[in-house]
Amino acid sequence: MTHPSPLAGRDLISLADWSGAEIIRVLDAASAAKRDPAAWRRALDGKAVVMLFEKPSLRTRVSFEVGIAKCGGHAMYFDHAASKIGQRESIKDYAMNLERWVECIVARTFWHDTVVELARHARVPVVNALTDLDHPCQALADMLTLRERVGDLRRARLAYIGDGNNVCQALLYACAALGTAITVITPEGYEPQAAGLDAARRIAGQSGARITLSHDPRAVEGHHAVYTDTWISMGQGDQAEARRRALRPYQVNGATMRAAGPGAIFMHCLPATRGEEVTDEVIDAPTSAVYDQAENRMHAQNALLVHLIGVPPA
Ligand code: CP
Ligand code: NVA
Repeated sequence: MTHPSPLAGRDLISLADWSGAEIIRVLDAASAAKRDPAAWRRALDGKAVVMLFEKPSLRTRVSFEVGIAKCGGHAMYFDHAASKIGQRESIKDYAMNLERWVECIVARTFWHDTVVELARHARVPVVNALTDLDHPCQALADMLTLRERVGDLRRARLAYIGDGNNVCQALLYACAALGTAITVITPEGYEPQAAGLDAARRIAGQSGARITLSHDPRAVEGHHAVYTDTWISMGQGDQAEARRRALRPYQVNGATMRAAGPGAIFMHCLPATRGEEVTDEVIDAPTSAVYDQAENRMHAQNALLVHLIGVPPA
């Protein structure tokens, strides 16, 4: 007997397109998959997923490939470091070939529009595995981790400090949809993009989530979790020095965690540049959740793929 999901056939380009209830459905499935992996061994039986990567990866690549194998499916990694998708042939032709062979396309690209364009032309689901603007699979794993560590997401308070980048944007959408309070603390000029912020505020208007922006590192006070990411995202090497200068006062160190409050956890999507955005003392502390986040990438993505293309266990 099959159990089709209401999410079957959907794309995941951005969590801005998903409701809080849809995200919770995936998080609940992820918790179930983590508790009882044996029940998920055939959930992607006969399904093939192609993974197109224009940028390097450890976590995303391994967690997708291993996760798909653990659910009985087949993942194929396609290295796109040498030429961007759409260079050899049109993105449309690319999508319309791939959909003849695979049940899902996972893509990590420089330009967000590449993933949007793939999804526009492919009849199979397209999953965003990181673009310049967004990283929804990361945010799914992060909300799962926050729920495990802190509990009720409607009461949790997350502080994101550093560069208002793709990871920050994904967290804004996730928190907005799930009713989680988020404070984003950046230097001037490093705020999240206005369009993404507006979209998150619209979503938060429905869930009641509180979104606060600040330039003051002391605004971490009173949060359950302090989250940061690299100051120099993939493709930004030419801006490294200016970024380091602007972001230095926003480093997460022992003083930041003490300011956040007792019991605050530390979160980071990784890879981290130890000694820049975070100190060893913080990332290696028992209050650091970074390796849980990495593990949860796999559980969250398994749950996601099984809902999009597989058979969720009853
Ligand atoms: N967090 C994350 O996406 O890591 P990778 O770049 O190693 O995939
Ligand atoms: N903001 C980082 C995240 C890496 C997972 C980047 O885009 O490089």
